[in-house]
Amino acid sequence: MKFISVKEAIKKGKGSVAVHGWIYRERGSNKMKFLVLRDSTNIIQCILKRDNFEKQWDEIDKLKIESSVELEGSIKEDKRAPTGYEISVSKINIIQIAEDYPINKDVNEELLGDRRHLWLRSRKMTASMKIRSTVLFALHECAHKLGFTEIHAPSMSGAASEGGSEVFELGYFGKKAYMTQSWQFYAENFINAVGKAYSIAPSFRAEKSKTPWHVTEFWHFELEGAWMNLEDDMKVAEKCLVYVIEKVLKECKNELEILEVDVSRLKKIKAPFKRITYNEAIEKLQENGYKIKQGDDFKSAEERSLAKYYGDKFVFVTNYPLKLLKFYHGEDSKNPGTGTNFNLLAPGIGEITDGSQREPDLNKIVERLKKAKIDLGSSDWYLDSRRYGSVPHAGFGLGIERFAAWICGFDTIKDSIPFPRTPTRLNP
Ligand code: 4AD
Ligand code: MG
Repeated sequence: MKFISVKEAIKKGKGSVAVHGWIYRERGSNKMKFLVLRDSTNIIQCILKRDNFEKQWDEIDKLKIESSVELEGSIKEDKRAPTGYEISVSKINIIQIAEDYPINKDVNEELLGDRRHLWLRSRKMTASMKIRSTVLFALHECAHKLGFTEIHAPSMSGAASEGGSEVFELGYFGKKAYMTQSWQFYAENFINAVGKAYSIAPSFRAEKSKTPWHVTEFWHFELEGAWMNLEDDMKVAEKCLVYVIEKVLKECKNELEILEVDVSRLKKIKAPFKRITYNEAIEKLQENGYKIKQGDDFKSAEERSLAKYYGDKFVFVTNYPLKLLKFYHGEDSKNPGTGTNFNLLAPGIGEITDGSQREPDLNKIVERLKKAKIDLGSSDWYLDSRRYGSVPHAGFGLGIERFAAWICGFDTIKDSIPFPRTPTRLNP
């Protein structure tokens, strides 16, 4: 007989079926065994009567959680069963009897981290990984639909792009190399070839910050377009995010249900997103009792609560003071001293996307670099984008885990990446 998934078996609902998977729960007496079988799609209760398995009963009796089995039998509706259906088993092929499973309800967070490779089998993590996969696929699809070409940058290079102490160093044949923090330096050059480009790849940050919203290796959706201004950039970001949310709502109903996601939160997200300036954001925070002043950078609690004051939806904050920005962000000629930049804030999380219209003028960038005491060193090639046919251009970076965690309603992005890397976790 051909094996089908548990989901397909439930859909079939009657007649004979063959399924295979892992034991999710088991209980029994010396006359009967109840197994709840799990595969990646769902769980189903299976019942085995001793009378039918006299020769195999000793083995069946040894079955523990996460043992692997193949089963054949007839399926029927049963309201008492956990997913509303039950298989009365006529044939079982035990593939492996598992050892005592080292995950149970008494296992603490640290041990769950050590056993992450096993914890991924949980229904919560499986649902999260499927949603993550849908997010990534939808971003690829949307970027292609909008005419962006996927083009990759190396993960190791001779100089850091986002600068500072947040960069991992590694030995490279007797020289120093750095793990990439962003694809942007490369992108700002190759848009002069392909026009519109995007990439989905890991970025690395040697940040010691132990917040729920930071990992040292995250997946980065970055996009850059020649001839794009700040408003074009925000529109593309809006389109991509809305596209992903609609796709997840359509294709991950089961997963959203398993994670008990309040989908009204997702359905609320519609273009255009609210746009406010940095100054307006500061005023709003002050009105709500925060002690922040003009010119200050937002603290994470401030960033996390801002969206709350705008209907618990995504909100773009534009025009940060230039002194809070990197040298590559453009200056808004209508509001001098402020950037043609945005951060997109998500309720409860804060920044999930960071973008800008870039400074296209070589002399201005050189001046900004001097002011910030940055020597591009072996990354000077970056400025060739401004030396040979510089054009207005813009782009952004979106943290996949922050966005996926927001969709899932998680309180940490660590639940949105299979193997989170943090300052204290390199294994598994
Ligand atoms: O704000 P960031 O540092 O911006 C850049 O890297 C730009 N070069 C992007 C660009 O314009 N091409 O990072 C962009 C996004 C953040 O908004 C956040 O969602 C995510 O990447 N991010 C992190 N996610 C998880 N853990 C970390 N340590 C992160 N640092 C940034
Ligand atoms: Mg940022």
